Amino acid sequence: MLNIILAESSLELIPEQLRSHPSVTSYCKKFKKTSSTTLLDNSWHFGAMKGLDNEIKRGRPDIIHLTLLSLCTTPAFYENKIKVFVHTINDEVLSFNNEARLPKSYHRFQGLIEKLFLTQKIETDDEILMELHSSSLSEIISKIRPTKIIGLTTKGKQTTLDKLIQQIPDNSCIIIGGFQKGHFNQDTEKIINESFSINDSSLEAHLVASRFVYEYEKTIFI
Ligand SMILES: C[S@@+](CC[C@H](N)C(=O)[O-])C[C@H]1O[C@@H](n2cnc3c(N)ncnc32)[C@H](O)[C@@H]1O
Repeated sequence: MLNIILAESSLELIPEQLRSHPSVTSYCKKFKKTSSTTLLDNSWHFGAMKGLDNEIKRGRPDIIHLTLLSLCTTPAFYENKIKVFVHTINDEVLSFNNEARLPKSYHRFQGLIEKLFLTQKIETDDEILMELHSSSLSEIISKIRPTKIIGLTTKGKQTTLDKLIQQIPDNSCIIIGGFQKGHFNQDTEKIINESFSINDSSLEAHLVASRFVYEYEKTIFI
């Protein structure tokens, strides 16, 4: 079993200081939404986000949607061979039961995650499908207690995925950046035991996630 964490992910509700900006108020009016319970989205709230602290790592819930679909629609996920977590830029952690089935439509994903931010849980009659907690990356790592923490980044040691998979012990944790641009911050880098690059150039997080899981599946399923 492997743990996969999307770290410093671009996923958050619209911060209070942006809620009265015209790009936010007009969006909320148009879609009949409340700014305090709406996901920050760079494609709609770009004007409000100009100059926002750590701007390049914020307001891209679409990246998390695509990457979660790449992870949570795989045989490895259905068969409990991977555990998936999203650590956000604001130190919250979303965890996913392997019975959870995410909406393919972005619109429905947005509604689901907004509900999760509001209620902290998505559950059926008998089980919790998704949970959200306040947690730093190091706190979630202490709970998982992985054997090894591997970071995937263009700054890492060049390798191929098949070679990398061979050297990852069971119950390791794989960290992929859940953001569009930039690199892991110092807190994340301190946690990582070893970093690897799996391609000459930068790839999208969802592509890294799906390639990684496919390569892992080749080693666990005949
Ligand atoms: C869109 S990239 C972020 C851009 C960042 N400048 C980079 O190149 O790593 C999102 C995430 O995908 C992963 N990633 C992208 N390209 C990679 C590569 N060549 N090797 C390993 N991981 C990669 C990293 O985890 C990265 O944080």
